[in-house]
Amino acid sequence: MKITSFEEYHQIYKHSLDQPEEFWAGVADTFQWRKKWDKVLDWNFTEPKVRWFDGAKLNITENCLDRHLDAIGDKPAIIWEPNDPTEDHRVLTYKQLHVKVCEFANVLKNNGAQKGDRICIYMPMVPELAIALLACARIGAIHSVVFGGFSAQSIADRIQDASCNIVITADGGFRGAKDIPLKNVIDDALVQCPSVKKVIVLTRTHTPVSMIKGRDVWWEDEIKKVETQGNTACEAEEMDAEDMLFILYTSGSTGKPKGVVHTCGGYMVYAGYTFDTTFQYQPEEIFFCTADIGWITGHSYIVYGPLSQGATSLMFEGIPTWPDAGRFWDVVDKHKVNILYTAPTAIRSLMSFGEEPLKGKDLSSLTKLGSVGEPINEEAWHWFDEKIGHGNCPIADTWWQTENGGHMITPIVGVTPLKPGYASFPLPGIQPVLVDEKGEEIHGNGVSGNLCIKYPWPGILRTTYGDHERCRQTYFATYPNMYFTGDGCLRDEDGYYRITGRVDDVLNVSGHRIGTAEVENAINMHATVVESAVVGYPHDIKGQGVYAFVVSPDKHENEDLTRKDIIMTVSRIIGPIAKPDKIQFVSGLPKTRSGKIMRRILRKIAEGDTSNLGDTSTLLDPGVVEEIKGGAL
Ligand code: WT7
Repeated sequence: MKITSFEEYHQIYKHSLDQPEEFWAGVADTFQWRKKWDKVLDWNFTEPKVRWFDGAKLNITENCLDRHLDAIGDKPAIIWEPNDPTEDHRVLTYKQLHVKVCEFANVLKNNGAQKGDRICIYMPMVPELAIALLACARIGAIHSVVFGGFSAQSIADRIQDASCNIVITADGGFRGAKDIPLKNVIDDALVQCPSVKKVIVLTRTHTPVSMIKGRDVWWEDEIKKVETQGNTACEAEEMDAEDMLFILYTSGSTGKPKGVVHTCGGYMVYAGYTFDTTFQYQPEEIFFCTADIGWITGHSYIVYGPLSQGATSLMFEGIPTWPDAGRFWDVVDKHKVNILYTAPTAIRSLMSFGEEPLKGKDLSSLTKLGSVGEPINEEAWHWFDEKIGHGNCPIADTWWQTENGGHMITPIVGVTPLKPGYASFPLPGIQPVLVDEKGEEIHGNGVSGNLCIKYPWPGILRTTYGDHERCRQTYFATYPNMYFTGDGCLRDEDGYYRITGRVDDVLNVSGHRIGTAEVENAINMHATVVESAVVGYPHDIKGQGVYAFVVSPDKHENEDLTRKDIIMTVSRIIGPIAKPDKIQFVSGLPKTRSGKIMRRILRKIAEGDTSNLGDTSTLLDPGVVEEIKGGAL
């Protein structure tokens, strides 16, 4: 939605509050439907039940591909920049992408895929990853992408939870100087996954892999088959608006990640609408989202959002610091990127290299910037603004979550007056509220509370896969008739929103969500560990680091070796992304008489703030606090 002024934003916002269904129907009208809806919205937050555009029929890939072919078929849909700067980049026009998606959709069918099947995708950041998602959507299969930083055990848990029957992977993936053996990890996972009948393997790194007869097939061979069969066209499957589009697992305050479910119609409308509105996308612009497709940001702002709007999406396989800390700027310069959407952790990491890596890089193509994943600190905001945007690129600090499908509270570039560190205002259609401990709405400005949303939007999660009660408990039971985000929030004197971080036991490490309970479970699996408690602490680059207090009486005489063993265990159980940054061995944990771990105290110690730990006299063993304070890392 194009908005020309802040006044117009206020008018549209007001209309979206007064006539929400009319507002969203207007947005949905800009998409292509095989059949329009009978009812815009049917909802209650008690079950919860949310149905958008009920009765409508569509296929999201017709919106992302087919509908663009006549007008902009030769426009680049995806520009792909490889990890190694000396390798050639690739460009796929809308026509070319359409053909590749159809071909691979037929590969899926040839391998037994059917509408409604769950397909796990574990791939590097190559165009075939986007093709795999779209091919699943084309035939009505539900994709479940697992980020490359998760272990075999995590993949197995996710495959089992959704009973996936097909896995799409690659021999390996390049990330900086590393070469990640993806197929090997999948082989380890599949030992526990009898539901998987086929594994389709893309060649990327030429790493030797085992290929099991009858189960494993090469992507390239399967494509050749459909080509020789002349089977390259693939009619899109007609989907109901509320059919599942994908599952994406995310961590919460309990041990087990949950499969967030998004549906075809609502998600499409929301990803497309937010992309267009937040960034005010213009037809010739090149949009570079630096996220990995393994996370929701990549789903919504590398694949579905930009493609549904006929945009050019730049996809980067590598990392910001390889071969050197100027790589992002080389990519921007080489491809004349106009809109750069990245994360505070990347900005802070690049900031730490100073200005040398920026020398000689032409960033003048940039006109708009975006940030996502965690609250952006002012220092990083100003560096991004001055050094990258040269003071004339508005920054959209986009607050949202996996469960939301797309941006919720964000500046609209060129429209919203900015305040560093503030996600500013809700997009039209979004109704945020702050509530106090009792669940009472806090009105007015200059107030803080827990952030809830009191009215549905098309991109809201519909359920957590296979466990609707868990969805209700997690998001809709804390405060009646509201979706609870788990975030704390300030609304300042001018009505600007500033997200202050999670209020539950969830950490945000480099913009990735990690549940403390999950890490504790993994640490506790280590042979010598009796129990543990994990909290976050401020980390210069990652935002939050993982601090583990561990009770392990039978350590190796070389303590550091036990630390490394524990880190290895966490890597095996969850994946390298959850590795603790600090491990402090303690003789016991501070607990209340009823046995509850006093995390508040541990958090303060981890933060290095031991001045006021509050009353510790009621603890089971008050002495342990002194010991922990003394040994803090
Ligand atoms: C959590 C969601 C949504 C894509 C990336 C993360 C935090 C996200 C911001 C922001 C302050 C932010 C919140 C939220 N968060 N963006 N702009 N300002 N906090 O997705 O893994 O679902 O995590 O990330 O705490 O609840 P996610």
